[in-house]
Amino acid sequence: MRPSETGLSKKLFIKTYGCQMNVYDSARMADVLAPLGYEAVDAPDGADMVILNTCHIREKAAEKVYSELGRLRSLKDDREGMVIAVAGCVAQAEGEEIMRRAPCVDIVLGPQTYHRLPEMVARAARAGGGVLDTDFPVEPKFDFLPESSAPSGVGAFLTIQEGCDKFCTFCVVPYTRGAEFSRSVAEIEAEARRLVANGAREITLLGQNVNAFHGAGPDGRDWGLGRLVRRLAEIDGLYGIRYTTSHPLSMDEELIAAHGDVPALMPFLHLPVQSGSDRILAAMNRKHTADDYRRIVDRLRVVRPDIAMASDFIVGYPGETDADFEDTLRLVRDVGYAQAYSFKYSPRPGTPAAGRRYGHVDEAGKTERLAVLQDLLDAQMSAFNQASVGRVLPVLFERTGRHPGQIVGRSPYMQAVHVDAPRDLIGTSAAVMVTGVTSHGLTGVLAAFSGRPMHSEEVVAG
Ligand code: 5AD
Ligand code: SF4
Repeated sequence: MRPSETGLSKKLFIKTYGCQMNVYDSARMADVLAPLGYEAVDAPDGADMVILNTCHIREKAAEKVYSELGRLRSLKDDREGMVIAVAGCVAQAEGEEIMRRAPCVDIVLGPQTYHRLPEMVARAARAGGGVLDTDFPVEPKFDFLPESSAPSGVGAFLTIQEGCDKFCTFCVVPYTRGAEFSRSVAEIEAEARRLVANGAREITLLGQNVNAFHGAGPDGRDWGLGRLVRRLAEIDGLYGIRYTTSHPLSMDEELIAAHGDVPALMPFLHLPVQSGSDRILAAMNRKHTADDYRRIVDRLRVVRPDIAMASDFIVGYPGETDADFEDTLRLVRDVGYAQAYSFKYSPRPGTPAAGRRYGHVDEAGKTERLAVLQDLLDAQMSAFNQASVGRVLPVLFERTGRHPGQIVGRSPYMQAVHVDAPRDLIGTSAAVMVTGVTSHGLTGVLAAFSGRPMHSEEVVAG
């Protein structure tokens, strides 16, 4: 019997900030709480429990949490018994500070302990709040999480690896998510098969350092990501595989080769480089040069000529000169990106870069560099989108559009594609002739429908 039928239903609202791994974690927290009668709702009003699943990557992301807590406090005043929990990376980094700054918070939990949520809810009810659990437990949470029974979207996420041992000097992730940990191939394959059985057609493999994946394989050896991708590509009904986010140092030959000969591996790669200056890359502890990165992109383009690149950039890292910034612009021009995220450097407490006492670039300088970089990246993205017009691309349809009769899917290059077509194509992949570019993505018309998955090399040529 469902909780709503027993009359014991409680409403759970989860607000997710930050990366796709947080989106995945939020879904898993809902799975953990479902047996207690919690059902997900999409607004905090009237909720019995609100979880803010937070991001600490840049200062702005963390500050948003405190303003949201201010709003929630007044909701809680009107609703006796409402439980407020703060989860994710801000919780991990600032647990006690949150309790102090926002006494309305009952539970603070880190990203590695949410399998213990039921126990925390019970403790909070007994003690009237004040529960803090930001351990890095010895037992991996994946061993304790229930299997998800919820229907998946057409595009699903699957965490295969967590944490990071790279320690880039600007980044909080190694401190908030902990050391690198990979799930086993068997566990990942089982979850992927469940997702496909529940309707997923494309799976994005997630990890803070996803290409550093080294999970135990069925042969007792550690498998790399290239091998895992080959294995998952054998699952019937799974048309597309993506992975994010990667580090250039972990782009090994096996993975590059997989881009060449696993058709389900989508020809789009988010490979953050952060800077194009060797001096800044060294200061950031990235352990590769700008030319190392160019070589990786070249090798990927040899095996998969239609691969599109995406990246992350930071401007105004301490010590960055105009010449360093010019090197970044040069790298962007050399590679040519289909998509990119760029940020002003934001000092994060506890990271080595934040402790530097000299060389900080002033705010105006950061703002100016960011504008120049974003103009260049925007121009590249527009050119990439424009170049799609007239091409036939395989599009995986995911949902209905805003206009009647319209459905929306994604191209291999993560472009949203809007098409007038029957709803029953949702969940299938079809060839679409791209006819235009709008501010929301691409428009197109059905070119053919064969009912079977189409891979880009079948239709892109010509
Ligand atoms: N300041 C600015 N940007 C940052 N990122 C990570 N840490 C910082 C920081 N302290 C960016 C990087 C990373 C992305 C997820 O966020 O570009 O790839
Ligand atoms: Fe952060 Fe990525 Fe560097 Fe790890 S590799 S420290 S997650 S930027």
